[in-house]
Amino acid sequence: MSSNLILPHGGKLINKHTKGKDEDLKQFEVSSDIRTDAENIATGVFSPLEGFLNQEDFLNVLKEGRLSNGIPWTIPIILDAKKEVAGQMKDLGDVILCSNGQGFATLHVDEIYDYNRDDIGTAVYRTNDVNHPGVNRLSKMQEFLVGGKLEVFQMKDYDEIQKFRLHPTETRAEIMKRGWRTVVGFQTRNVPHVAHEMLQKAALNMYDGLFVNPLIGKKKIGDFTDSLIIDAYESLIMNYFPKNRVLFSTIHTLMRYAGPREAIHHAIMRKNFGCTHFIVGRDHAGVGDYYPPFAAQEIFSEYPDLEIKPVIFPSFYFCKICMSYANEKTCPHGAESKEELSGTMIRKMVNSGKIPEKHLMRPEVSDLILRSEKPFVVD
Ligand code: ADX
Repeated sequence: MSSNLILPHGGKLINKHTKGKDEDLKQFEVSSDIRTDAENIATGVFSPLEGFLNQEDFLNVLKEGRLSNGIPWTIPIILDAKKEVAGQMKDLGDVILCSNGQGFATLHVDEIYDYNRDDIGTAVYRTNDVNHPGVNRLSKMQEFLVGGKLEVFQMKDYDEIQKFRLHPTETRAEIMKRGWRTVVGFQTRNVPHVAHEMLQKAALNMYDGLFVNPLIGKKKIGDFTDSLIIDAYESLIMNYFPKNRVLFSTIHTLMRYAGPREAIHHAIMRKNFGCTHFIVGRDHAGVGDYYPPFAAQEIFSEYPDLEIKPVIFPSFYFCKICMSYANEKTCPHGAESKEELSGTMIRKMVNSGKIPEKHLMRPEVSDLILRSEKPFVVD
């Protein structure tokens, strides 16, 4: 039966979730972002990774956008540490990682190595400008990297933000149950406006199921808060989608704003969840004007072996003359007939309490934004 589903990236779903732990090992505190990465390794979201990258894979990811065995991989999943901490870890061999004092994983330290931040900036973000949120985070990283496989024995405590979280084994089982042969994944870091919805529905015309998968995790100041995104999608799907054709679940990971490279990473993660196709629209995972609007689509031509297929769309907008959503492939009218909802317009709306027109944002979604006490990330 499972032969119907697309294979996970690298051929098999990694499972590094275990019950056992060695109480005697020394504990090392890491950030909650590192913990999230470890959970994604353990549950197979990052298949085929079994741990934090060793140097050979790290260098190959930067240079080739592939692991050293040639498998596509574009974002380095790495554990940074101060020199003396990395040294201690290496001497001990096996250590426990903890976050906020709670032990959660056993790390089998394979090697420690130094690295050049600018090399990551250039390869992954295509810039070393510290105003770029990804580069900014990079600039705060410790000077050494620790490579090694891991097992997670304690997942994060359940909280509200995880209420729609599903692991790849669960999404795969659900896709099987629904009998979908083709599933198109949709990544988002935003509350939905109607252009997003039209993109998803255009794809839903062609594939059996739609996997709506907002990214929940650290984002830049000014982005929408996770809980608002979740509430807005819950409402949108309930009111505007045929429920038997949509699977809604959240993905818990960092937003990296790495444009083209992140689009590949996003597609790989959705392949692990069981998607056969993945939507890539305008300026996917972009920020400011660091990436040309369609660079995240073009990069897929370098990965003919990715297996999950990109579903690329031009820029969607509402055309006042067509009186419908349109794009440059379907509409001959000029800029004066276009209506689009920008981030700035939504911000103005929040400040003035004025709701965008219904053809730009569903009233249920506008209402949730206006009623939200904390619509935007502030730190
Ligand atoms: S992203 O950082 O997660 O890519 P966002 O949530 O805004 O940001 O976009 C989700 C997906 O919708 C991406 O594939 C993006 O390219 C696409 N998209 C968003 N708005 C438009 C639009 N007006 N036209 C075409 N594609 C769009």
